Amino acid sequence: MPATVLVVGGAGFIGSHTCVELLQHGYEVVVVDDLSNSSPHSLERVAKIADTAVPVLYVMDIRDRSALSEVFRAHPIEAVIHFAAKKAVGESVGMPVEYYDNNVGGTTALVSAMREHGVRRLVFSSSCSVYGNAVKVPLTERDPVAPTNPYASSKWLCEQILTDVCRRVPGMNVLNLRYFNPVGAHPSGLLGEDPRGVPVNLMPYMSRVAHGRLARLRVFGDDYPTVDGTGVRDYVHVMDVAEGHRVALQHLDDEAGMRTFNLGTGVGSSVLQLIAAFEDATGRRIPYDVTDRRPGDVAALVADPTAVNRAWNWSTSRDLAAMCRDAWHFQSRNLAGYAD
Ligand code: NAD
Ligand code: WQD
Repeated sequence: MPATVLVVGGAGFIGSHTCVELLQHGYEVVVVDDLSNSSPHSLERVAKIADTAVPVLYVMDIRDRSALSEVFRAHPIEAVIHFAAKKAVGESVGMPVEYYDNNVGGTTALVSAMREHGVRRLVFSSSCSVYGNAVKVPLTERDPVAPTNPYASSKWLCEQILTDVCRRVPGMNVLNLRYFNPVGAHPSGLLGEDPRGVPVNLMPYMSRVAHGRLARLRVFGDDYPTVDGTGVRDYVHVMDVAEGHRVALQHLDDEAGMRTFNLGTGVGSSVLQLIAAFEDATGRRIPYDVTDRRPGDVAALVADPTAVNRAWNWSTSRDLAAMCRDAWHFQSRNLAGYAD
């Protein structure tokens, strides 16, 4: 019998790609998602790529404790991957209570259900945003955290809660993964990032400019102390992030308690470098204007991935060209996202 993994938030961007990776490696997948930021069609695409049945989907909010308990009762769940969260930084500033309620309240509800049902293995989605205004790059897991918005604070609070739970609950093993900037899509063009409304993040915005659905890209500031003045980030292919979760499942029992790892490539790219890579990979021109800095942005965030490389003997393998090509492939084949 393959192991059964509960993927919470599994219909979303990273969750759906992770479902493909797990199904292709023989895991049984059960998904819980309230579809507040995703479409059930993503799981149909998952099944098509993996050539399996569509994973069981429970459409529910994880804060619904009795419904969540039913899910644990109905399946022999051995491990949980927790992707479910609200993730828009700007929005979180305007609605902090909703962000703490959903992200922190969702995590405590999930951990309670796990404890009640004797499930002790969890992979948690954290974020490079917990590092805040990094004083130097690349960042190791030992560098200080300093969240600068409610979204990032909600992730940091979850990390602290999980640390305390691991101290208290014998046998509880948590892998806390701080992703940097996941982008790209499954190379099939069937699965990708399908944000609602106008995208706020660079890669999905740029893909829509390339397609002509948005007129021009705004480059937020060219006066940062970086290679060309524009913001530097560690873009990581979503299939590497998905693969990282599959590998994480194999390492959950390596050590007891809570362990934190950066999930990035270790390579920083500026906005202008990403535009150039996108143009090279797709043959499309990206018209842009340089505008003021976006409030709250930092100059550079780049992972030092040494810890995860050593612990799992694993590293990311897809480059910026693949990220751009695959993001564009999905965008050009799915003009209206999964609604197509
Ligand atoms: P996403 O919005 O595509 O996926 C999250 C999923 O969780 C969505 O399908 C949403 O409907 C669901 N969800 C949210 N709240 C829920 C709730 N209370 N109950 C049930 N389902 C709920 O986001 P993503 O990009 O796939 O991100 C996955 C995780 O990774 C999130 O926790 C996010 O904070 C974290 N993360 C994302 C990035 C990024 O740039 N995408 C970077 C770092 C960390
Ligand atoms: C990347 C770079 C912008 C849009 C976000 C979250 C973070 C984490 C990862 C969840 C920056 C510039 C952007 C545009 C631009 N997510 N930019 N024009 O802000 O690094 O990180 O995703 O945990 O918490 O904040 O990603 O893609 O928005 O920006 O010039 O239209 O592109 O200034 O330098 P960010 P992003």
